[in-house]
Amino acid sequence: MANRWTNTLKESDVTPEAAFLNRRQIIAGAAAGLGLGSIGGAAFAKTEALTPSDYEDITQYNNFYEFGTGKTDPAANAHTLVTNNWTVKIDGMVDKPGEYAFEDIMKAMTIEERIYRFRCVEAWSMVIPWNGFELADMLNFAGVQSGARYVAFETALRPDEMPGVRFPVLDWPYVEGLRLDEAMHPLTMMATGIYGKDIPNQNGAPLRLVVPWKYGFKSIKSIVRVTLTDQEPPTSWNKANGREYGFYSNVNPEVDHPRWSQASERPVGGGLFTKRVPTLMMNGYAEEVADLYAGMDLTKNY
Ligand code: MTE
Repeated sequence: MANRWTNTLKESDVTPEAAFLNRRQIIAGAAAGLGLGSIGGAAFAKTEALTPSDYEDITQYNNFYEFGTGKTDPAANAHTLVTNNWTVKIDGMVDKPGEYAFEDIMKAMTIEERIYRFRCVEAWSMVIPWNGFELADMLNFAGVQSGARYVAFETALRPDEMPGVRFPVLDWPYVEGLRLDEAMHPLTMMATGIYGKDIPNQNGAPLRLVVPWKYGFKSIKSIVRVTLTDQEPPTSWNKANGREYGFYSNVNPEVDHPRWSQASERPVGGGLFTKRVPTLMMNGYAEEVADLYAGMDLTKNY
């Protein structure tokens, strides 16, 4: 994976939140930002300026069903999630399987800032300034074996800390998956911060997946296990309703959800009079990722 993705607009250029930048999330990010030019590639450089959504909206309007199904439930309830001493088990077809301490992963990774569009399958959207690292770097750190074709992800399941898992809305724990080439794509990241601060529990602390060209439910939160496999892994929403939610779930304005149109979306945060805006193919990242799906029928592989 030669080319790293970079965006020219830094969050610190556009928002007062810069005053609160947290050392852990920004120290490596600043270095990485400066270093990107020298890494070379820059094939994915973005020139378009995205204006990030407000911190309030990003952290108060959430989907995290382990803490309730209402949009404000995660912000109200997720404080009970204990993120100290977090570990991520990396297993399956890797050279160095193990139970890795989150802090050790952070030390080994380069933290960058990425301002990405985020589009929920429910047709709302935001622009989020994430801090984190490329998933490829973590997978390479564990050593992906040649037979691996998919990556499976699992969220923590802690009934004592997650009031929502008493209800069988989904088959817990929440699980997700990517094809290996999607997982290794330079746009795919593990987010550990938002606006330079540690990622709040309601957004998936201490680390969650972010796949900006896919509907938000692929971006699984509070990950405790990452498994390399040669089989397409089961995914929570596909298990819950396979007719409505497929494995791929690429943002596609031309393929409607069976119950609503995906042609447009509602940016969160604009108040009552917010206009819907057209949804972009692959959420605006088609130039970078469309070749992953060359020759595939996107209406069948939804
Ligand atoms: N991950 C877990 N473990 N549980 C969830 O309910 N919801 C998904 C995704 N990841 C979810 C999850 C959905 S539907 C969306 S749209 C995004 O998280 C929302 O992310 P946000 O709350 O940070 O905007």
